[in-house]
Amino acid sequence: MCGIVAYIGKKQAYPILVKGLQRLEYRGYDSAGIALLNGDLHIYKKQGKVDQLVNLMHEKDQTGKMGIGHTRWATHGLPNDINAHPHTSQSGRIVLVHNGIIENYASIKQELVKAGHQFSSETDTEVLAHLIEEVMDAENVDLAEAVRLALHSVVGAYAIVVMDREQPQQLVGARKSSPLVVGLGENEYFLASDATPIVEHTKNVVYLNDEEIVVLDRNSGIEIRNIRNEVITPYIQALEIKLEKIEKSGYDHFMLKEIYEQTESVRDSLRGRLNANEGIIALGGIKEYEQKLLNANRIIIVACGTSWHAALVGEYMFEDIARIPVEVEYASEFRYRNPVIRPETDLVIAISQSGETADTLAAIELAKSKGATVFGICNVVGSSIARTTHAGAYTHAGPEIGVASTKAFTSQLSILALMALTVAQHNGTMPKSRLRQLLVELENIPQLIKEVLKTDKIVQKIAQEFKDARNFLYLGRGYNFPVALEGALKLKEISYIHAEGYPAAEMKHGPIALIDEEMPVVFLATNESAYDKILSNIQEVKARKGRVIVISTRRNVGDLEDLAEYIIQIPETEEPFTPILSSIPLQLLAYHIALLRNCNVDQPRNLAKSVTVE
Ligand code: G6P
Repeated sequence: MCGIVAYIGKKQAYPILVKGLQRLEYRGYDSAGIALLNGDLHIYKKQGKVDQLVNLMHEKDQTGKMGIGHTRWATHGLPNDINAHPHTSQSGRIVLVHNGIIENYASIKQELVKAGHQFSSETDTEVLAHLIEEVMDAENVDLAEAVRLALHSVVGAYAIVVMDREQPQQLVGARKSSPLVVGLGENEYFLASDATPIVEHTKNVVYLNDEEIVVLDRNSGIEIRNIRNEVITPYIQALEIKLEKIEKSGYDHFMLKEIYEQTESVRDSLRGRLNANEGIIALGGIKEYEQKLLNANRIIIVACGTSWHAALVGEYMFEDIARIPVEVEYASEFRYRNPVIRPETDLVIAISQSGETADTLAAIELAKSKGATVFGICNVVGSSIARTTHAGAYTHAGPEIGVASTKAFTSQLSILALMALTVAQHNGTMPKSRLRQLLVELENIPQLIKEVLKTDKIVQKIAQEFKDARNFLYLGRGYNFPVALEGALKLKEISYIHAEGYPAAEMKHGPIALIDEEMPVVFLATNESAYDKILSNIQEVKARKGRVIVISTRRNVGDLEDLAEYIIQIPETEEPFTPILSSIPLQLLAYHIALLRNCNVDQPRNLAKSVTVE
């Protein structure tokens, strides 16, 4: 969703801001804008991509050693030039960019209109710029204090960066429920909604906490206060992200790069946490709360999107390996129910790649308010969910830039497997010899992913054949049912073909009516226990002339040859780890079909990488 980058220092801000906005493109947006301060304020905004903004800027004044940039994902008002950020105050002296939603903007606006303010956009953000100026004038305070006081009247989520034409020595930022990170360079400072625009300039960062306001001053440096005006000591952290991780490194798209990275990303998820020979499973981040996991009578997993699909696989794993009952909840539903949580015996696990998903955050807060212990499984280090949960494990998959989640998913599955195996080891839910088999197999999974990636060629052929299909059906059973859902989601997200995932046996209760000679049906037929059953389901589709594509393990291939138009062979593995392998050809299939349909693979229409609004 919206992205922020801001700079104050000795260099020209414009190239830094443009590069930063390009780095933020992955989040999903529909307009972009920049404000530069060089004695005067210059504001440039454009609907569409950052490149279109850059074209507009060719003839313009690009000078200024401070500035703010923004990519907007429309919420209040159309995605057009006027609604794009930055927005200015009544007199034009205050300019700001904003991520999040000001929920009470309408009532604030009403008051301001009464006081004579005129608004030019439909956004909630513009209200904030006007409000800050109003407070500044009424209270006769400087920018930072005006921001602090103004935020007392605001309900909602925000990450903001504000400049005042009359105070060119400082940038002011603030956050609540929407991330903002400060980069500390040599006599220069950066502010951004995530670390990607900062990483090439400095490795030293400070993540703001909720209701904190930062002042970055050319003369006096960094100062942080909270909304209650208490001074906060900045906690400086070193960024671990490497620059090459946020670049395409020769691949045509981030998504393809990230699919191919999975051998390494899953290895990184397991690194230092699993030693099959010694029988060691070590998830350091949950050590302090391990008893909560081991003694849990029930696990509730909350998540959204692809992470929710990972949670469903987790359900199978925890029940199968750890013998703990699990409920998987859409965070957005969970947060508005009155869920029954037994703090002593329930454990809540939140899964999120970005660690910033608004609904997941709210679900965590609800669970905490009911006394629950919450574990997080996040990819982005230092993210809000990682910080608000009691314990957890980072997936360490590295930055995921493609909007459609790929490597984060397989890494989430790897962490869930480690958690379930931890319980098995301590609670003795399976014979030691079986546990050892699973550990050995999990350690070997990165190697098997390498094998799976070799299916790319056949997948490309299939993509060519089916690129014009109007609908797709994905069917799987057991561990592969969530994979069917995830495969369908991948295709929808980036190729805009309608696709449904279903438990294979449920097909006869509805989707079978859709099957004709034009309907491609992707079957996941890898799992030993349900293999014969799924073979019957394939027969049922075949009998209705459906076009069958099967993902199967090598051993099973013989039986399928007469039934399937295409077979994608993947290596065999232990059933609980099957989804880590079987999801990969589906990622590739979505990628190649989207490519052939000329879709924007990395930034699909309307979608955002990090959904910071509910
Ligand atoms: C968005 C993204 C999805 C992601 C979902 C949940 O919809 O486009 O790829 O699965 O949010 O995000 P999270 O960061 O919480 O995993």
